[in-house]
Amino acid sequence: MRLKNGSRIIIGIVFVLLAISILQAPATAAAPNLPNNSCADCHRKLLFTSEEQRQFVDIRIKHLESGISCSIVCHEDKLNKSVASTYALWSISTHALFDVTCEKCHGGNKSAILKNDAHQGLSSINIARANTPETCGKCHESELDEFKSSQHFKKLEAGGEGPSPACITCHQAHSVKVLTASEIEDFCSNCHNRITGINPAVPKNAENALNSVNELQVEISKARSAIISAKAKGKDVTGAESDLESARTILKNVPSVWHRFNLTYFETEVQKGIADTKKAEKETAESQTTPLPTKAPGFEGIMLVSGLIAAYFLHTRRISQ
Ligand code: HEC
Ligand code: HEC
Ligand code: HEC
Ligand code: HEC
Ligand code: HEC
Repeated sequence: MRLKNGSRIIIGIVFVLLAISILQAPATAAAPNLPNNSCADCHRKLLFTSEEQRQFVDIRIKHLESGISCSIVCHEDKLNKSVASTYALWSISTHALFDVTCEKCHGGNKSAILKNDAHQGLSSINIARANTPETCGKCHESELDEFKSSQHFKKLEAGGEGPSPACITCHQAHSVKVLTASEIEDFCSNCHNRITGINPAVPKNAENALNSVNELQVEISKARSAIISAKAKGKDVTGAESDLESARTILKNVPSVWHRFNLTYFETEVQKGIADTKKAEKETAESQTTPLPTKAPGFEGIMLVSGLIAAYFLHTRRISQ
């Protein structure tokens, strides 16, 4: 079989385009290339925005090297020892992946090329620590709603003496890190400890609470498998499915409920979800097999067989031509 010249050229072009896209892939993965976003474009080129910041970063790195325990302020460095600038932290974050670009929090004009024009309207109010619940809550409404009823928020609003965490205290402004169960005790005890006297039992309880979430996840997938195999045996699983659904809803709401910072309430919710999954599993074990309606080969069956025969004949005719 010979290809015409035209087809050869087209195949050649496709091949070259494919090669280009493969070669470019790693570069775009390392630095999100957002069209028409001058903030990200220009800031990508600046590693440290000021001499002052550079010195600050140096000091923090020295602290880390000599093993001085990190304050909350330098937690970001502890988690990202190799990167030190706002752009670098942001570029590898979930926010960069979802196009939550600089101007979404800072304001300014993302279409302007010159710095002064782009910086018109930069807001220092939006990014002030105590205002981050509002700034972040524009997109994270359910977290903000729950957070508003927390003691953390009340303390933050009242201002005054002593520390209280805002969104960026725990998540950081640019890396938007999510603390895991194994990191949480260390982190919360920055404030919750015997010296400050702010409920020192919190860190351990918080770790346990997040571990129960992991347990809920495991139980949900176990219940799911049980339901699938019960279904395959022709059992009635409607009850089990609705229990699994309510466990899933609880899991879905975990991130927002967490921000109420009422660990007793949180743990009760998660345990309810775990109980739902256990109930679902028990139901699949006990449920009866519903006899499947035995079907005679109906119209569809006949159509399928005759279709296959027709295809066979067409095929043999084409070969013999
Ligand atoms: C042409 C380059 C350039 C562009 C475009 C640019 N910046 Fe900047 N930005 C800088 C430089 C350089 C600094 C360091 C401080 C300075 O020189 O003003 C800076 C500093 C900042 C700061 C620190 C606060 C301040 O005022 O010093 C923020 C926040 C900021 N930029 C956000 C943005 C946002 C948001 C955008 C897009 C709307 C943007 N930048 C566009 C170059 C740029
Ligand atoms: C999700 C919101 C958010 C996004 C997106 C974001 N920032 Fe920020 N940024 C903040 C907050 C909040 C602070 C204040 C941090 C603090 O007080 O510790 C901050 C602080 C800064 C600072 C120090 C400013 C100062 O006045 O001290 C710079 C510079 C900066 N951001 C640049 C950027 C650049 C460049 C981008 C995009 C690559 C970006 N930010 C994306 C929320 C954001
Ligand atoms: C313009 C909308 C927007 C703003 C403003 C915003 N976020 Fe986000 N954020 C998102 C989107 C979109 C995602 C990714 C999808 C999701 O998880 O909902 C996300 C994800 C996150 C995550 C999960 C990260 C992960 O790896 O799972 C955290 C934590 C977070 N944001 C915190 C913040 C904080 C803190 C602020 C304020 C400083 C903020 N966000 C401001 C839109 C926003
Ligand atoms: C005291 C620390 C703390 C504060 C303050 C805090 N968070 Fe969180 N946040 C966490 C932890 C820990 C998790 C993970 C919870 C989990 O695994 O269930 C989380 C989870 C999240 C998630 C979901 C991440 C995911 O994986 O889906 C988002 C979004 C988020 N927080 C946004 C916010 C916003 C917005 C604020 C401010 C209104 C805020 N957080 C305040 C500690 C905090
Ligand atoms: C910047 C300091 C700070 C950090 C960090 C912090 N907290 Fe708090 N927390 C407080 C303060 C202040 C209160 C209010 C105490 C009061 O009013 O008596 C509080 C109260 C609480 C309460 C309610 C107290 C109670 O007795 O029921 C819970 C729960 C809580 N924090 C959980 C956490 C968790 C979980 C973390 C870590 C993810 C954390 N906190 C990190 C300062 C902090």
